[in-house]
Amino acid sequence: MIRTVIICGAGTMGSGIAELCARHGFHTILYELDPERLSSAATRIHQNLDALVSKGKISANEAAASIARMVFTADIRACKGDLVIEAIIEKPEAKRSLFNQLAAYNGTETIFASNTSSLSISRIAESVPGPERVCGLHFFNPAQVMKLVEVVRAPQTRADIISLLVEFCRQLGKEPVVCNDSPGFIVNRVARHYYLEPLRLAEKGLCTYAQMDALLEAAGFRMGPFRLMDLIGNDVNYAVTESLYEASGQSIRFRPSPIQRDKVNQGELGRKTGKGYYDYKAEGSGSEAKK
Ligand SMILES: NC(=O)c1ccc[n+]([C@@H]2O[C@H](COP(=O)([O-])OP(=O)(O)OC[C@H]3O[C@@H](n4cnc5c(N)ncnc54)[C@H](O)[C@@H]3O)[C@@H](O)[C@H]2O)c1
Repeated sequence: MIRTVIICGAGTMGSGIAELCARHGFHTILYELDPERLSSAATRIHQNLDALVSKGKISANEAAASIARMVFTADIRACKGDLVIEAIIEKPEAKRSLFNQLAAYNGTETIFASNTSSLSISRIAESVPGPERVCGLHFFNPAQVMKLVEVVRAPQTRADIISLLVEFCRQLGKEPVVCNDSPGFIVNRVARHYYLEPLRLAEKGLCTYAQMDALLEAAGFRMGPFRLMDLIGNDVNYAVTESLYEASGQSIRFRPSPIQRDKVNQGELGRKTGKGYYDYKAEGSGSEAKK
């Protein structure tokens, strides 16, 4: 039974998943290395809950109870629970090392789930004590809103853990879909082309970012590809493309775009840094960024 959830990484995804878990009655520990990021995640979660109260979606008591269920910490020794969901940087060695450290503070029944967008779950599980308790739990951005969660079953993952996590996702009000451990799982593999094809057009100067977004939004997509990449984070999006490119034997279909690489090198990561394909600090925030 899952009572206490440890979320690792208080960035875009970790803070959203932590808010979600606390709101749905789970004791939630949010662990982050960087104290500044930890405190801004706490502020963001308070603000989100206040906004839900103002809109009449939850009561003030529910908001207070959610906060009371949360612990914000930079001390890994405080991370003891039934389920770990890691949402740290998209690097397999960092994820493996974190799970190994956490295994030392937790019992053998603690489940280790990765929110990775593209990395192999079985590779992450390789050196973790008890690899049969390692799986993927892939939330979408914003985690509080998006319904889908890919529950990723690696060959070594125990079947009862997958069933337990499907039930856990339902308790969070999500729609879990069990999928196998393959590069990019389902959504990120399919969606890669939603980003890469517009980037190829932009590379050739055949469209501006704003034109492409306006066009696809008018065609019925909820968010154009460049706005969506800015929301996801260009570093995260680039890492996912690179990882799929390598996993596919450098298939041309998944070749990362130099535009993405330049954005990352320039620190233009999207909304989280105030600038990406659009400039969110400029007057009339959200105007197309100067190239
Ligand atoms: N951004 C998205 O839209 C999205 C969607 C689905 C999945 N993901 C995946 O979720 C994970 C996190 O992505 P994000 O966008 O939230 O990244 P982010 O950069 O916003 O946040 C990552 C956080 O992890 C912290 N961190 C790094 N190493 C740590 C460690 N060892 N222990 C604790 N904290 C650590 C960083 O300080 C940072 O605050 C990645 O694996 C990414 O692929 C991202």
